[in-house]
Amino acid sequence: MSEFHVPVMLSQVLDLLDPQPGEFVVDGTVGHGGHAWELALRIGKEGTLVAFDWDEAMLETARARLAHAPCKTLFVHADYREIPSWVAKNHPAGPDCVLLDLGVNWEHFADPTRGFTFQEDAPLDMRMDRSRGEPAAAWLNRASFDEIRRVLSEYGGERHAAAIAKKIMERRRRGAMKTTQDLVQAVLDAIPPRLRERRIHPATRTFQAVRIAVNRELEGLEDAIRAIALTLREGGRMAVLSYHSGEDRATKLAFRSLGDEFETLTKKPLRPSGAEVATNPSARSARLRAVRCSRRLTEIS
Ligand SMILES: C[S@@+](CC[C@H](N)C(=O)[O-])C[C@H]1O[C@@H](n2cnc3c(N)ncnc32)[C@H](O)[C@@H]1O
Repeated sequence: MSEFHVPVMLSQVLDLLDPQPGEFVVDGTVGHGGHAWELALRIGKEGTLVAFDWDEAMLETARARLAHAPCKTLFVHADYREIPSWVAKNHPAGPDCVLLDLGVNWEHFADPTRGFTFQEDAPLDMRMDRSRGEPAAAWLNRASFDEIRRVLSEYGGERHAAAIAKKIMERRRRGAMKTTQDLVQAVLDAIPPRLRERRIHPATRTFQAVRIAVNRELEGLEDAIRAIALTLREGGRMAVLSYHSGEDRATKLAFRSLGDEFETLTKKPLRPSGAEVATNPSARSARLRAVRCSRRLTEIS
């Protein structure tokens, strides 16, 4: 297995963004810099790549990996929701290309100490940005039954959301939830025994849902995507790769709300090929949408 996150739908992303020599590109979720490296090669020595990630560990890897990129590179430790204010301050002409490759990085699961994986026992953290916010354990120990049930159901599509939330409340009465295995056990205790041996681990949906809640991944996403698209210069392109129906829906609604000044480059979301999914199973749920700004009306401030 590669030591780096494998960039998903790379050729389709490059086709849609169509980066040109000398262009100004923002990668809002640089991760291990897989997409960013290819973007950098295309914009060349006259180009600029601005790489955002809210996870300091990812930025460190991206910095090392892009150290020999041919273009100028800038690294920003921040939420991509801050792209509009960054652009207004630093490059008001607007970017030529923006990429958002949402969600988690392979390293989040590969590093068991971060609490994203149910395969190992570790403190239940799951924050991508460890410099702020509340670890998953703290959230699970204070959220109400209704809140936990809603999160498991809405973000995880978990059919046993109520039963799992109930087991979490029972577990809390005996002592605080601390580790990934405390959460795994709550799931196993809640579901019918015949479901415990399934190919997909029964805690998969719960872990995904709690991660989305702890990192507030869907909060204000539609507004954020819209605001980022509005920073594009005339002719600029933006692509969003999502892995969850909530992310894809927010992207679709944001792009749809942009009006006649924007051209939709993907009538329906593009999906990865069977060959890509066979070599990189984490691409299986990917959906790719893109727009192009044909006329810039707003001056960003
Ligand atoms: C799927 S990975 C990106 C992989 C990257 N395209 C590559 O080829 O290596 C998503 C990255 O986005 C980051 N991320 C997720 N949500 C973010 C947010 N709101 N702001 C900034 N970074 C975010 C994660 O920390 C993670 O590194």
